[in-house]
Amino acid sequence: MQICVIPGDGIGPEVLGAAVRVLQTLVPEVVLHEADAGWATFEQQGTALPAATLAAARVADAILFGAVASPSHSVTGYRSPIVQLRRELDLYANIRPVVGLPGRMPVDLVVVRENTEGLYAGRERLEDAGATAIAERVVTRRASQRIVQIACELARQRASERGRPGRVTIVHKANVLRVSDGLFRETALEVTRAFPDLMIEEQLVDVAAMRLAQSPERFDVVVTTNLFGDILSDVACIHGGGLGLAASSNLGDRQALFEPVHGAAPDIAGQGIANPLAAITCVALLLTRYGYLKQAARLEAAIRHVQHDGPHTPDLGGTARTALVTEAVIGLL
Ligand code: NAI
Ligand code: MG
Repeated sequence: MQICVIPGDGIGPEVLGAAVRVLQTLVPEVVLHEADAGWATFEQQGTALPAATLAAARVADAILFGAVASPSHSVTGYRSPIVQLRRELDLYANIRPVVGLPGRMPVDLVVVRENTEGLYAGRERLEDAGATAIAERVVTRRASQRIVQIACELARQRASERGRPGRVTIVHKANVLRVSDGLFRETALEVTRAFPDLMIEEQLVDVAAMRLAQSPERFDVVVTTNLFGDILSDVACIHGGGLGLAASSNLGDRQALFEPVHGAAPDIAGQGIANPLAAITCVALLLTRYGYLKQAARLEAAIRHVQHDGPHTPDLGGTARTALVTEAVIGLL
């Protein structure tokens, strides 16, 4: 197994260092190739995603990605490397599972987010000499079909693993975005007809946000477009202990990229206190995807143990440092 490791900026290298140590403990024969991306790379090389990084990512079986710092203002020549990687490698399905913390609401859901188009298609421009900004939202039948297909297959698989009916919630705003979300909705409903064993429902995105916050236990698989999925998955991850624990897979037909949901966290970067469990959970997702099921099960048990009994980093109310949490996980393996 060849893994391309892209640590990025801020806490990216701190948490990915922990993830790599865990991976090497479980699969010593893994071949790692480290590559640059992010804001620091942009400042040094004039591009946030160098051609060498893209080439290394293309030949790897999988990619482990930390986090990058993207400026919130327009910088000439800068494009978010993670958004570019998803599009270049056609990693069209972003899968963000959320499992509730022990002793809290019984949450067990996954947000399936379209990863290549929507409002993140990168079609933004200024008109009226800079007085009007326009962003185009791209929705295609093909991308909608394949994302809903993956969501339904996942719901079916989860239903059989859990011995209960599966449910898919299609989230959109077709009452306002009649054309673009109209196409997404119509395509989604078409695809779901091939899954009569699943309960299919639709919700407008604003209501879905409230329900995900208020009664997350009623969701199973949520499928939606790019921006909505980005926001809703951060809402949902509150129930799983917050950003320090949330991990995600970006799946294509040939490759997969695994990344924590969180960003570069500049407020705590360099202090050695970032929670490494999100990045370590990415390793569990990777191992499962590539058939290392025994190792994945051992790692999941170790993560659960540390989540429950500590040591905990400050985001979970503890005082432990990144290194101590990482040692605790490795100790349990
Ligand atoms: P963020 O996720 O970096 O941080 C939000 C809050 O959560 C901060 O208070 C941070 O300290 C905390 N946090 C995040 N991860 C944590 C961890 N592992 N352990 C403990 N606390 C953690 O989001 P923010 O602040 O909105 O963005 C910061 C930078 O990251 C921006 O430049 C943004 O563009 C970038 N970003 C990158 C992403 C990516 O690479 N995929 C995703 C989201 C943001
Ligand atoms: Mg996000």
